Amino acid sequence: MRRTLSALGVAGALLATAVAVPTMAASAEPAADRSASRASDRPLVIGHRGASGYRPEHTLEAYRLAIRMGADFVEPDLVSTKDGVLVARHENEISGTTDVSAHPEFATRKATKTIDGVAVTGWFTEDFTLAELKTLRAKERLPQVRVTNTAFDGRFEVPTLQEVIDLARNEGRARGRTIGIYPETKHPTYFASIGLALEEPLVTVLRANKLTRKNSPVIVQSFETANLRKLNRMIDVRLAQLLDAAGRPYDFTVAGDARTYQDLASAAGLKWIAGYADGIGANKNLIVPRDAAGKLLAPTNVVRDAHREGLIVHAWTFRVENQFLPVDFRIGTDPNARGDITSEYELFFRLGLDGVFSDQPDTAVAARASLA
Ligand code: G3P
Ligand code: CA
Repeated sequence: MRRTLSALGVAGALLATAVAVPTMAASAEPAADRSASRASDRPLVIGHRGASGYRPEHTLEAYRLAIRMGADFVEPDLVSTKDGVLVARHENEISGTTDVSAHPEFATRKATKTIDGVAVTGWFTEDFTLAELKTLRAKERLPQVRVTNTAFDGRFEVPTLQEVIDLARNEGRARGRTIGIYPETKHPTYFASIGLALEEPLVTVLRANKLTRKNSPVIVQSFETANLRKLNRMIDVRLAQLLDAAGRPYDFTVAGDARTYQDLASAAGLKWIAGYADGIGANKNLIVPRDAAGKLLAPTNVVRDAHREGLIVHAWTFRVENQFLPVDFRIGTDPNARGDITSEYELFFRLGLDGVFSDQPDTAVAARASLA
């Protein structure tokens, strides 16, 4: 079912007050001028894994800080526990973001598995009940880059999706504004293959929270396509097709579909996506590519072409550290020092981007405030 962008309000909201949401209907410009227009009044700021530039990612404290910094949405990546509970982790292998390796009682659970065609060794959420997972504590993924964040290692739990929703609701209520959630289903083909499909528990949680409508403050995202098309038949929340700069959706690999993410980012590909999704979440490099040295090249037509199909366009991931910025916006030679991320936001906002996933949402909020 094709969704229209004019109905992206907040009924059934986590809170009663309105959040700025994209509405293509607001644009009165001729199509030829839309390359630099936005589908919304102002770009959304999405706390990527929470305010993960300041706290260990995917913890309630990271999400809470993102909200306090002004993020409109917070982003939980979702994987499943052994007992089918959705929890917030970027991947199902959790040794990089928890202290699981320091728990001798779980030593025998270390395993090597093939996830999306890649051999991965470590500890996996699907081998832990929620109760067991709750005995672990989160740690900083990038301790060499974000040294100060390591002060929070060992302090925070792995949250469930329900806990993230509760946090968004409570923090939003306290601040008198709607906080959206932007869940991403991670490795959906893999989880379905082990009998722990993500879509049913996701829909169950969203239904229990009355968050299944088109105008609910929820956007569900995935790098795969089949599960988004499945969700499109199950609920009416907005869906965003994630597009990387290289490779292809893993469900395409399994199905023998030769299309790549680059193909999906073409005008024809975006038209196909618009048949089941409301937007795209694009790797920044699909919108403004970089050369081999990391310098910015000319923007592509992705924003314009997506808007022509009625798709909102969000991009990831905005991070302040020099090593993540294009050469053009780096300051000094320390890869971990802060660069000129404001100029990067301004570049993308000028291109008509509808939202940014940011590890440091305070910087995105500040850049948005300076928009004319
Ligand atoms: O979902 C947007 C962005 O988060 C995709 O990349 O790897 O951080 O989940 P990743
Ligand atoms: Ca994500």
